[in-house]
Amino acid sequence: ELKVEAVKRPDLQLVQGVPLPSPSCETWDQLCSFQARPDDLLIATYPKAGTTWMQEIIDMIHNNANLEKCRRAPTYVRVPFIELVPPKPIPSGLTQVQEMPSPRTIKTHFPFQLVPKSFWEQKCKAVYVARNAKDVLVSYYYFIKMNHGLPTSGTWEEHFDAFLTGNVAWGSWFDHVKGWWEAKDKHQILYIFFEDLKEDLKREIKKVAEFLEKDLKEEVINKIALHTSFDMMKDNPMANYTTLPSFIFDQSVSPFMRKGSVGDWKNHFTVAQNETFDEVYALKMAGGPLKFRTEL
Ligand code: A3P
Repeated sequence: ELKVEAVKRPDLQLVQGVPLPSPSCETWDQLCSFQARPDDLLIATYPKAGTTWMQEIIDMIHNNANLEKCRRAPTYVRVPFIELVPPKPIPSGLTQVQEMPSPRTIKTHFPFQLVPKSFWEQKCKAVYVARNAKDVLVSYYYFIKMNHGLPTSGTWEEHFDAFLTGNVAWGSWFDHVKGWWEAKDKHQILYIFFEDLKEDLKREIKKVAEFLEKDLKEEVINKIALHTSFDMMKDNPMANYTTLPSFIFDQSVSPFMRKGSVGDWKNHFTVAQNETFDEVYALKMAGGPLKFRTEL
């Protein structure tokens, strides 16, 4: 069993104006000079947008829906999180990526401008998953409570304000979704919405498979959709993060696979908060082409 240094929540530290958990900043110089390979695939998201879901979908696509292969290791081993710096002696995401044989699938929460330039020089593909801000705000609230690797964002009211001002790890949701949207036509980036995955999972799996140039039979698509349903992933120890010790992810505070729905914000936002949110949202997203659904 791994002996880990006592987990003390980190602070936020700015990198090019973007708040990150301070340990991730320690490897910033190495991240900048990271050498990508042309067959690297990035899965990029703002936190809580459906990262783990896409990691499972893509691993299933790569393995032709072979369940045994996809149960070979937990999500965070199969698809390492490049900017993660966990407590010692767990190796950093960067080390894990560097030690991984190709073809590599790599997770990042970086806003577009922080992604190591080498990925674009090597013309790597990236799948970006975006989720509506109201549900992300709620999901992030519970996640920060249970994840001791993140700085606290306070009470529900404090978290609400911190999220809207972008004073949370990985910064402003608004800048994140817009930055990747603007980049998507300049690089090989597939932009997917969480709400679309919820609406029609098979349709979206087909989109991802096509983007990855994998020609999958209908029965394989069906199997992937079944295996990546919320209920299946909630019960899958290789996807639900229960392999992490409770002093890192305390799932008695909130399970990682919490609700997996669209519109849970309605159970949390007060009428006044919803008005404040809509005002800020209208200002930040004004006139833009990017449209989100907050209910299905
Ligand atoms: P909730 O907290 O709203 O339940 P990430 O992987 O980016 O951290 O995102 C986690 C969110 O995605 C959680 O949202 C989690 O429940 C949800 N999620 C994970 N797998 C899912 C699936 N197969 N179907 C629907 N939602 C899923």
